[in-house]
Amino acid sequence: MNAGKVILERFSCRDYKDKKISNKHLAKILEAGIKSPNAGNLQCWKFVVVNDLNIKEQITKASLNQRWMMQAPLFIVVCSNLGKLKRYYPGKYKLYAIQDTAIASENMMLMAYSLDIKSCFVGGFDEKAIKRILRLPDDVEAYTIITLGYSDEKNKKERNSLNYSLSYNMYGQY
Ligand SMILES: Cc1cc2nc3c(=O)[nH]c(=O)nc-3n(C[C@H](O)[C@H](O)[C@H](O)COP(=O)(O)O)c2cc1C
Repeated sequence: MNAGKVILERFSCRDYKDKKISNKHLAKILEAGIKSPNAGNLQCWKFVVVNDLNIKEQITKASLNQRWMMQAPLFIVVCSNLGKLKRYYPGKYKLYAIQDTAIASENMMLMAYSLDIKSCFVGGFDEKAIKRILRLPDDVEAYTIITLGYSDEKNKKERNSLNYSLSYNMYGQY
């Protein structure tokens, strides 16, 4: 599948089949994460792959108990090592952590889609609880939980027309 098709077709999936993701495909998805643009090429992201049922359950509960998450065979919790980022970018590290992890998350979801693996970006979670469950060090924070799995779900989402979001040269100028 070419990149343009993947970008235009990807959608958030919340209905997964009971089918495992192979290590080979998982490796490709993770590789897409580490190839992403990131601040200063410091690569402060940390990816925690979760396939243990009990840990998945705890994460789901800490994610507003979004029960559909449990259907996904695998989560990737995308974290950032803020300690390292802060040393290099004391005034910008919080923003960069968000930007780094968001791009890496999207790239992993796009690679997944190209492998016929559906995903959802989950941001609705209790950060403190996730930190405790995954035993993240003090200077590491979780930013995204990506659910991954196979699915027959079809995209039903609609978008506003481009004009809703677009200006030229100055905000609000058309
Ligand atoms: C910052 C952020 C947080 C999100 N959190 C959740 C979430 O907690 N649960 C969920 O089901 N979807 C979540 N989503 C997915 C959005 O609902 C979804 O991307 C949006 O509705 C557009 O649909 P699409 O991804 O199918 O194009 C989140 C997406 C983003 C970017």
